[in-house]
Amino acid sequence: MAKKVGVVGAGPAGLLLAYLLHREGIEVVVLEARSRAYLEQSPHRIRAGVLEWGSQEVLLQAGLGERMLAQGLEHRGIYLAFDGGMHRLDFPSLTGKSIWVYGQQFVVQDMIQAHLAAGGEIRFEHEVLGLEDGGLVYRTPEGAVERLACDFVVGADGSHSRLRAQIPKARVHQKIYPFAWLGILAEAPPAAEELIYASHPRGFALFSMRSPTRSRNYLQVAVEEKLEDWPEERIWAELNERLGGVAEVRPGPLLEKSLTPLRSLVVEPMQHGRFFLMGDAAHVVPPTGAKGMNLALCDAVLLYRALLAYYRRGEEGPLLRYTQDALRHVWQAELFSYFMTTLLHTPADSFDEGLRTAQLRHVAESPHLQRFLAENYVGLYTSGRHPGLLSQEV
Ligand code: DHB
Repeated sequence: MAKKVGVVGAGPAGLLLAYLLHREGIEVVVLEARSRAYLEQSPHRIRAGVLEWGSQEVLLQAGLGERMLAQGLEHRGIYLAFDGGMHRLDFPSLTGKSIWVYGQQFVVQDMIQAHLAAGGEIRFEHEVLGLEDGGLVYRTPEGAVERLACDFVVGADGSHSRLRAQIPKARVHQKIYPFAWLGILAEAPPAAEELIYASHPRGFALFSMRSPTRSRNYLQVAVEEKLEDWPEERIWAELNERLGGVAEVRPGPLLEKSLTPLRSLVVEPMQHGRFFLMGDAAHVVPPTGAKGMNLALCDAVLLYRALLAYYRRGEEGPLLRYTQDALRHVWQAELFSYFMTTLLHTPADSFDEGLRTAQLRHVAESPHLQRFLAENYVGLYTSGRHPGLLSQEV
């Protein structure tokens, strides 16, 4: 049977779009190559965990925020640690807003559960092979190749997107950083009650959390390094070293350990005919500042509104403007993620290090720069500068 919208990828962007469309009675099917258990449970799926003010509002408005409210942690600030001191940025006084610490894996679990409970359709273990005559070609778990006709196809298949290639003559704007992050999830209390972004001559370290007893920490490492180079004792010693005495982390059992190279990528345009890209398939940010999931949710809201305008009133304008509208929030997040990455990571070049130190001291001293940082952190595009994104009338 023909579906109106075919969504490829059950990540935060694909699931939110499908859930919102289904709620409006628009037929939509999600095709996902992995199994439900893999998406929900695999330790390799642990991703960032910061929701901007506007992102948590979207989840609440959509009826997806119940567990986030119960188990997520509202944070009203972050710490920058450097030169042996801690500098707190207070979000409510700088922006009037706060953020939520709640893992992406939980967001995905909540969305899958809510979408299926509402009668929505997600076909797990269905691998999309390509697009054909306005539809999708996919392989079922049994190995059969089938076709699905749809009005619109949405590629939300992640940073290694296969569907990205469906946009002919796309420009790919890219930046590779000479750093990677070693991330750990540990059954150990966090270093502080709020996140600490620590800049140290030995490299950047981030002290985050998933709950009051579970910490999520990261270390800047060289891109050539391997997980085997980092036994547990070395990770904990290095984390403490880079905290520079402002706090202390106590070791606990590791639940996950991973390496992520840092890069920025923007695909332009994000659409071709009746095909649209969302989330990491369209853009990647380095993790510093935790913009990835928020950007994905922002794309989904924008495309949802555009599709609704089309199905409700036959308006094509918002769909035609999707790339233009999305790239505004995309480039803003790219700018902020680049700013945070260069502000906090120790570069090899001594001139770059001089510039970076000057910038860091300026941030610590200037209320203007603190406001710039805080505004971006809580989310410029989802937090009032463009209220249309969230307003109810479409
Ligand atoms: C987390 C990740 C980030 O990249 C960040 O800037 C803040 C928090 C996290 O995983 O908790």
